[in-house]
Amino acid sequence: MSRGSEFVVVANRLPVDRVAGEDGVPSWRRSPGGLVSAIAPVMRRREGTWVGWSGAADEELEPFDEDGMHLVPVRQSAEDVQLYYEGFSNATLWPLYHDVIAPPVYDRAMWDAYVRVNQRFADAVAKVAGKGAIVWVQDYQLQLVPQMLRELRPDLRIGFFLHIPFPPTELFMQLPWRRRILEGLLGADLVGFQLPGAAANFVRLCRQLLDAKTVKQDVVLDDRTVRARAFPISVDVDELRELIARPEVRRRAEEIREDLGGGTVLLGVDRLDYTKGITQRLQAFGELFSDGGLKPGEAVFAQIATPSRERVEQYQILRDQIEQQVGRINGEYGELGAPVIHYLHTSYDREELAALYLAADVMVVTPLRDGMNLVAKEYVACREDLHGALVLSEFAGAAPELRRGAFMVNPYDIDGLKETMLGAIHADRADQARRMRVMRKRVIEHDVDRWAQEFLSALEHTPEHVPA
Ligand code: ADP
Ligand code: F6P
Repeated sequence: MSRGSEFVVVANRLPVDRVAGEDGVPSWRRSPGGLVSAIAPVMRRREGTWVGWSGAADEELEPFDEDGMHLVPVRQSAEDVQLYYEGFSNATLWPLYHDVIAPPVYDRAMWDAYVRVNQRFADAVAKVAGKGAIVWVQDYQLQLVPQMLRELRPDLRIGFFLHIPFPPTELFMQLPWRRRILEGLLGADLVGFQLPGAAANFVRLCRQLLDAKTVKQDVVLDDRTVRARAFPISVDVDELRELIARPEVRRRAEEIREDLGGGTVLLGVDRLDYTKGITQRLQAFGELFSDGGLKPGEAVFAQIATPSRERVEQYQILRDQIEQQVGRINGEYGELGAPVIHYLHTSYDREELAALYLAADVMVVTPLRDGMNLVAKEYVACREDLHGALVLSEFAGAAPELRRGAFMVNPYDIDGLKETMLGAIHADRADQARRMRVMRKRVIEHDVDRWAQEFLSALEHTPEHVPA
């Protein structure tokens, strides 16, 4: 019998998705989203095992190796996908944890599926983890796994990291299963959040709802102490540096600029998600043409939106809204062969993304609420030339780290957004360089490696507990 893995990451998704190639032969491609972008490089370096779902319903797969990682698939039936993934994870928790921007759905069948699938993940990890292994559980889809895993394997050291915001008491209290979620998280030795405010929300809720004893950011249980701490996630600066140094990426950036017609290039890169503030930024951009703040030809907006959670109703509504909005603005202000907004509903590889970042004069990141937002940090990491401006929402987790260099904005304030976009478009090179330098210092010094090391070292230094 094998000794099992010493380091296990467990996340809803595997870091790769199955895609059909042009010749019909399926292959694997990196899955979308900040979580994978952050953890995949760390995993490769630690030669760990990643337990997750392949992204397809009813797929029975054996463990396999891909992209330098050992991957252990967990099956999800079509019903699990509907109730656990699209349902409780993305129609209940996602909107609840993002300030209730969309109304959360509270449905008992979805909750039951969440419990069932979390148990399946915990069982899978219990099988592959070696004695005393470090297990790192990721994100809101798996909040019950720490407790379930501790029951199965008290020898493990369990860390949990939440990539999205953790809501304040007033919102969290809506959740009918609120105690169960807190108890689930308390199965971990260390619970990590993006920002200190989220860790404080969690500790306060444990005190109020579970009557737990808390000391500063620690929750003191009968047999052990659970630490809640903030670890702002970051990007793989070395990977991006290597990409932007490639001549073909630089050529591609030039080509993109030429294709876009020579005006100032504004760029948005997001999963197509209602938390990202895409309609607000496009509205502001469109109004700049109607007000005369911009003239067609002077600036162009490239909005790249990765398809995401396409069967969840709120995502379908958003897609229709954006398509209508883009059509309306282009119909009004675009010219033949020269739309003012280029909207692409697609996912790109890392080379193309890096080229887009290099091509953009203004990067527009305007979430209504976001755990961190890696796109903002990726843009900064790519601008070694100190050119370019970042428009950044106050409600992005990245705001406290980047506010001294970014053009900060409240995305709900459309006039403020217009003014800020114009400020960024017209910023002179010296101002851009000064701002970029400040942001780059922060991102380079706090890259994803440092984030992972800090989390794992805090986890490794949590006090030993003696299993009963
Ligand atoms: P989230 O985790 O909510 O999706 P983040 O901004 O934190 O948001 O992370 C998004 C990640 O997905 C980034 O690493 C970004 O480069 C990547 N990404 C976003 N849009 C695309 C796209 N259209 N094609 C490829 N990758 C994308
Ligand atoms: O970072 C937030 C997150 O929900 C991750 O947990 C997830 O991997 C990513 O965004 C993409 O979302 P999904 O897996 O639903 O496509």
